[in-house]
Amino acid sequence: MTKDAIVGRYPRSPEVLLSLLHDLQKANRENYLTPEDLARAASHVGLTPTEVRDAVTFYSMFSLRPRGRHIVRVCESPNCHLAGAWSALAELRRALGVDVGETTADGLFTLELTSCLGACAVAPVMMVDDEVVGNLTPERVRETLDRYREAK
Ligand code: FES
Repeated sequence: MTKDAIVGRYPRSPEVLLSLLHDLQKANRENYLTPEDLARAASHVGLTPTEVRDAVTFYSMFSLRPRGRHIVRVCESPNCHLAGAWSALAELRRALGVDVGETTADGLFTLELTSCLGACAVAPVMMVDDEVVGNLTPERVRETLDRYREAK
């Protein structure tokens, strides 16, 4: 779908800004928002480019720099921390060969941290794109990455 078609699906209202930005970001293979995306969104919903940029920099789900095709976010909030999120993170670092904030050489994954995902009952938790993966063990981490690698 073209970006014009994406924007055209939304009413001209500031209330749709986050959803519009989310869709524009997903349309970029490298999972980020370009300056043109911000300008297009601002013009469509009637906000200034500065207001749109402020929203983008406030929410960690948005990025202004290229990232991997899949975003892996590990919850670093207390429940997950106590349940062993750091060993899951260590497995992710090892399996991906990157540190937090970095993208794998093949451009497939970017590793990030996040605050509570609202899934504390299955801590420790990570999120891959829109999928919540709980009860993390090193095996579960590897299986999940393999599933996304096979789906590319
Ligand atoms: Fe990790 Fe709530 S603390 S999901």
